[in-house]
Formats: sequence, C-alpha cells, structure tokens
Amino acid sequence: MRELRGRTAVVTGAASGIGRGMAEAFAGEGMRVVLSDVEEAALHRTAAELRDAGAEVHAVVTDVADAADVTALADSALRTYGAVHVLCNNAGVYTGSKPSWESTLDDWAWILGVNLMGVVHGIRTFLPVMIEQNEEAHIVNTASMAGLLPGGSLYGATKTAVVSLSETVHLELVESGSRPRISVLCPGLVDTDIYHSQRNRPARFPDAGPVPGTWSVDAARQAFKEFGVRPRVIGDEVVRAIREERFYVLTHPEYRDHIKHRTQRILDGENPTVLSPPAPGRR
Ligand SMILES: NC(=O)c1ccc[n+]([C@@H]2O[C@H](COP(=O)([O-])OP(=O)(O)OC[C@H]3O[C@@H](n4cnc5c(N)ncnc54)[C@H](O)[C@@H]3O)[C@@H](O)[C@H]2O)c1
Repeated sequence: MRELRGRTAVVTGAASGIGRGMAEAFAGEGMRVVLSDVEEAALHRTAAELRDAGAEVHAVVTDVADAADVTALADSALRTYGAVHVLCNNAGVYTGSKPSWESTLDDWAWILGVNLMGVVHGIRTFLPVMIEQNEEAHIVNTASMAGLLPGGSLYGATKTAVVSLSETVHLELVESGSRPRISVLCPGLVDTDIYHSQRNRPARFPDAGPVPGTWSVDAARQAFKEFGVRPRVIGDEVVRAIREERFYVLTHPEYRDHIKHRTQRILDGENPTVLSPPAPGRR
C-alpha cells in the first residue's frame, strides 16, 4: 500500500507505547487515525495530545478481548471516516516470567483473551470489510521476538500463535486473490509501559501475586527504560513495511543470529536453548 495520505488507520492499544508510536507515525503520513484502548483516561489524553499536534484522530474505548467491543470499534470507525485502510492489532499484556505450571488459569485466560483473541477479533471483524472495500488495505499484528524464539512463558505462547495466525492469513489472502495484505511485527525490547500491564487486568481474572525468583515490576521497568527502543522508531518501521508490503517486520536486527540459531537447532534435532539477550543499540 503506497499511498497513505488521507486514508484511515485503526490502532488498538493506542493510548501508550508501540500503539501510540504507530499512531504518531500514521498521523505524520497524513492519515486519519482511530485510536482505541481499554484504558479510557489514557486514551483520551493521548488523543488530545495527537490532536494538539495537528493530527485528525477519533478515540474509541475498546476491550479487544470482547468481540462485541471490536465490532463497535469497526462501526464507529466506518461511521466516522467511511472506510478503514490500515488496522493494527496491537493491544497486548504481559503476565511476567512466572513458570508456565505456576501460572493460574486466570493468568492464561487474561493473556490469551487480549494477546491472541484480540487479534482474532480484529481479523474477523475488519478483514471482511477491507475485502469488500476492494481497495488497498493492510493489517499489522503485533507479535514479538518472543513469538520467534523459545523461553517466553505464557507471553511467548500467545505471540507464537499470533505469528502463526498471521502467516496463515497472509497465505489465505494471496491464494484467494484478495487485495488486503498483512504483516507481523516482532520487536525486541521497546521502552513502553508493558512491564506494568497489571494496571488493565480485569477483576474477573484476579492476580495470585508474584512467584519468588521472577522479575519484580521495578526490575522490569528499569530494563525496559534502559534498553528499550523508542516506540516511534517502531511506528516508522511499520509505515515502511506497509509501503513495501513486507510481511515480517523485525525491528531489532541484533536478534537475527538468535533466530538462525533456533532454526538450526530445529533442523539439527537439538533441544531448545535460551540465548542471553544481544547487546541492544539504543534508538
Ligand atoms: N514493549 C516491548 O518490549 C514489546 C516487545 C514486543 C512486543 N510488544 C507488544 O507490543 C504491544 C503493545 O505493548 P506496549 O509494549 O506498547 O505496552 P503498553 O502497556 O505501553 O501499551 C499497551 C496498550 O494496550 C492497552 N490494552 C491492554 N489491554 C487491552 C485490552 N484488553 N483492550 C484494548 N487495549 C488494551 C493498554 O491500555 C496500553 O495502552 C503488545 O502487543 C506487546 O505484547 C511489546
């Protein structure tokens, strides 16, 4: 999709972090942006800041884990701007580095509902609209480097599923001759508020508390602040990927050898290993 100016982008999880970075990048290209997020006050704050900076934005409170909410988001976007050309299924949460077997069913239900079913709802709701529009259109699903490498606990399981689902949808779109395209975004560490995802955890999925020996919120915050790439860098890379119709969006080149290493072990019949994070380049 080459021409972005005047077109409409919908971004979930847009009140903070990577979603906001993408929204700013789209606005910078002259797009109209529908910002959606479950965190109402943060959403309206972000929308006001983007508007003050000259962007044309519309804000819709949406819980991506709720199919009816995502339908209402699409209705509102179409009522407001008439069409949707870009959808970023980006909202996501992190339940920490707790071992899988010590995680509760509430941990699983919450993270699967947002990180996987949120993407499913976005695809099921918006893709038929985009196909029907019969114009250039593009979906970007936010996975993670944790979707390409082993060791991400529950989070990695959801992100691996998002990579797989995105690959499948890409093939289905090409095989059916449909116009929309799709990408999967797989960043390493980005300087966002994801370490504090608990702020949006619904009361119906109570938190059983931290497991000794796993990362504290403070340690996680420090790592994200110190080593994370700035969200706008990710947003600008997403714009390039949409223009190039590039499926895999790898924003952290320092992980390339890790991906090769993992693939080689699979081919060699070796067991998984976790490599230490590569030296990050501050961007
Ligand atoms: N920060 C990183 O290092 C990193 C790396 C790889 C992938 N990601 C992914 O990037 C995406 C964005 O996360 P971020 O790092 O910007 O974190 P963030 O916490 O700064 O932003 C996530 C946004 O999603 C919203 N959200 C949470 N639950 C929601 C729900 N049910 N419905 C709608 N919105 C909801 C939050 O309110 C927040 O505004 C996530 O999918 C995350 O898994 C992050």
